[in-house]
Amino acid sequence: MFDTSKPYSTLDEVLAAIRGMKDDPLVNAGTNIVISRGNPSAKLLLVGEAPGPQENIKGKPFVGPAGQLLDKILQAANFDPESDVYITNSVFRMPPGENGANFRKPNDAEIDYYRPFVFEIIRVMNPRVILLTGNVACQSVLRKTGITSLRGKWVEMDGRWVMPIYHPSYLLRNQSREPGSPKAQMWDDIREARKKYDELQGM
Ligand code: URA
Repeated sequence: MFDTSKPYSTLDEVLAAIRGMKDDPLVNAGTNIVISRGNPSAKLLLVGEAPGPQENIKGKPFVGPAGQLLDKILQAANFDPESDVYITNSVFRMPPGENGANFRKPNDAEIDYYRPFVFEIIRVMNPRVILLTGNVACQSVLRKTGITSLRGKWVEMDGRWVMPIYHPSYLLRNQSREPGSPKAQMWDDIREARKKYDELQGM
């Protein structure tokens, strides 16, 4: 289990602790540890769900189709995915698939196990704005689900501004851009995130 009696002082220490996890519930999944990409000094942190097959191979989060869409969304709001954002997940190994599927969603026990590491990344990295993509990230960080009602609303957490947004995989399955569609809502949310980020930069 994560040792909270010794808070880490640097992100490198947190990442090393994650790589050295002793009782990782997914240790027997046969998948790789995938933690983060982007700029560790960024003031914007994005938390996803869990690595998928491409992430498992490349060792970086959000490098498959959902990640490509995520980068486009960030760029549309003038965020450079490499320099303005740090990107991580709620779970650091791809959960193995069942019944012929390649992978599955993380379960409650897995989300609970990894949560202290996610919080330690947040504490040490110290972002001002956090975007939670989809229900798993909301369950990890806010202990709540219900993305359609949570999305687009700010929650203040330890002096940081946290906003749930849709997961890009959901947008890949819902391509409409009509007013009120998930894509249109995502555009509203990312613009709102940009606004908050700009306001906080000036403080
Ligand atoms: N989906 C996620 O939530 N995270 C990834 O890293 C890839 C796909």
